[in-house]
Amino acid sequence: MSLFISLLDTQLHDRAAFNCGEPTLDAYLRQRAGQHHRDGMATTHVLARDDAPAKILGYCSLAAAQLNLAELQAPDRIRLPRYPIPAIRVGRLAVDKSTQRMGIGRLLLGHAVNCALAVREQLGVRVLVVDALHEKAAAFYRLHGFRATTDNAATLYLPLPLTRG
Ligand SMILES: CC(C)(COP(=O)(O)OP(=O)(O)OC[C@H]1O[C@@H](n2cnc3c(N)ncnc32)[C@H](O)[C@@H]1OP(=O)(O)O)[C@@H](O)C(=O)NCCC(=O)NCCS
Repeated sequence: MSLFISLLDTQLHDRAAFNCGEPTLDAYLRQRAGQHHRDGMATTHVLARDDAPAKILGYCSLAAAQLNLAELQAPDRIRLPRYPIPAIRVGRLAVDKSTQRMGIGRLLLGHAVNCALAVREQLGVRVLVVDALHEKAAAFYRLHGFRATTDNAATLYLPLPLTRG
């Protein structure tokens, strides 16, 4: 058995069975994710097991975003121009209750970072941004290196590693 991440396939993935304990995140997957994908608003990335590919163990959604320079903490502003900071927003990230605290959230975050680094081959991206639904979620993000923005503790960002050369 191995885990893999693919883009949401509304014909394959069983969105109705997904239950992360946060009704808004379950509802997004059922009712909005497919439409947002078709409209170019966000992509949804689904993590599943290869021997049960229809069962969604976790998902995250990604979209282009920006932060104002002043929203970064002072040490992160050094040498940056006074332009909006190009970002990718992890709009939603959720893990099914049956598999929480098993490392799947961490895998999805790693996937989001990899996606941002891949995009950066073509387009500037400086940070990942998330809006934490509650303090528990914010704690999860802080543990993985995210920092609160200066004007809203529930909006956090992760500076991406700088490209050498
Ligand atoms: C929050 C959530 C995404 C974390 O995903 P997960 O797969 O359960 O987390 P992981 O197993 O990858 O956790 C990695 C580490 O993060 C930390 N962590 C995980 N959930 C945490 C929580 N609720 N509070 C604080 N730290 C947490 C733990 O230290 C964990 O390491 P440990 O297992 O050694 O203790 C998941 O529990 C979830 O979907 N919750 C409900 C929906 C939600 O709140 N989403 C966030 C929306 S902004």
